[in-house]
Amino acid sequence: MQYIQSIKLIIIVYVTIGGYAQITLPGEPVKDALFLHGFVQSNNTLRDCVFRPANAKDMCPDPDIRYILYTNGKKEVVDQTQSDWLRQSIWDPLKENMFLIHGYAGGDDTLPINVLRDAYIQNGSYNVWMVDWGALGETPCYRAAVHNMRAVGRCTGEFISSMRSAGLPTDRLTCVGHSLGSHVCGLISKYVLFRMHRIIALDPARPLITPQVKLNIGDAGAVHVLHTNAGHYGEGGRGGHVDFCINGGRIQPYCESGEIDAQLCSHIWSVCYMAESLVPQMRKRAEPCSRRCPSGPRPGLGRIGIPIIMGQDTPLTATGSYCVYDNYTPYCPRKAGDIGDVRCCLKAPEIENATG
Ligand SMILES: *[C@@H]1O[C@H](CO)[C@@H](O)[C@H](O)[C@H]1NC(C)=O
Ligand SMILES: *[C@@H]1O[C@H](CO)[C@@H](O)[C@H](O)[C@H]1NC(C)=O
Repeated sequence: MQYIQSIKLIIIVYVTIGGYAQITLPGEPVKDALFLHGFVQSNNTLRDCVFRPANAKDMCPDPDIRYILYTNGKKEVVDQTQSDWLRQSIWDPLKENMFLIHGYAGGDDTLPINVLRDAYIQNGSYNVWMVDWGALGETPCYRAAVHNMRAVGRCTGEFISSMRSAGLPTDRLTCVGHSLGSHVCGLISKYVLFRMHRIIALDPARPLITPQVKLNIGDAGAVHVLHTNAGHYGEGGRGGHVDFCINGGRIQPYCESGEIDAQLCSHIWSVCYMAESLVPQMRKRAEPCSRRCPSGPRPGLGRIGIPIIMGQDTPLTATGSYCVYDNYTPYCPRKAGDIGDVRCCLKAPEIENATG
């Protein structure tokens, strides 16, 4: 029962904020989108759900899985029929490669993953590869989305392997996944012949995830997990070489205003923490904390251990649980000229209140 309820909630709110992407509202963007305006309902029914076979021959490339590359201010959709695509493309061999994978009811340009995409683009140091499997994870088909993760992992694994043959270096490649996307990052590792370098999992999804598809510490040389809604939409318990417990890992304080779904809000805001880590003056340090993370208590003063940076610059050699505490929405610009993205704010920036 609880699963079903969780799924319904994800559907409603993801669809709603998905709708926000097309309309710009003044005032309190995310809150407006969550509850007041832009309520978009899918016309799909469960009968429309698409289930891809997990292991058929010749199933890749799949027309419903697209790859879009952003680099040096340009965008290009990968043409998988072109074997020489990489060398002719906008790909920059001097930049690190980040693969970004959205969760349920997502796509290349849907919230919340587009916030992170845009943060990487703005940072400018990366080739940003968006894995768009939106057609295989549409509402109301959560169960199908979970099932289809394997096909996405397989086809993306084959895709990365073909890019590697074409010259893409994989020794520093990173896969960043939100929610179900975290597990897709893990599944990719089962379909490539090289070792995955790093996976960053943003509140990896919990509902309906079985051990066979769950992100595993063995899936990459470094697996880093950011916990923001552990035990509800996000997985509980430790999952990586490094686990970051943000505000205890379960519920984010700024999500508890009572007007919004605090669980879903907490789950989504993991993406804003990652985006924030791409701005050197904003990134957060986390201190070593309880082994019971993400449920452990706040450590007392004087705990031994060296704090580490959370997110993009987490050292690859780090291990253990680390805690971060803050009361404010991450990556939310609080006044004019601040760095960040208003889509990470729950309240309108003060400047807008003052003028409007
Ligand atoms: C759902 O179907 C109705 C009637 O065909 C249409 O007017 C509406 O735009 C559709 N909504 C969406 C979200 O596709
Ligand atoms: C981009 O992110 C990296 C990693 O955090 C950082 O070292 C670099 O300074 C950032 N660049 C800009 C322009 O913010």
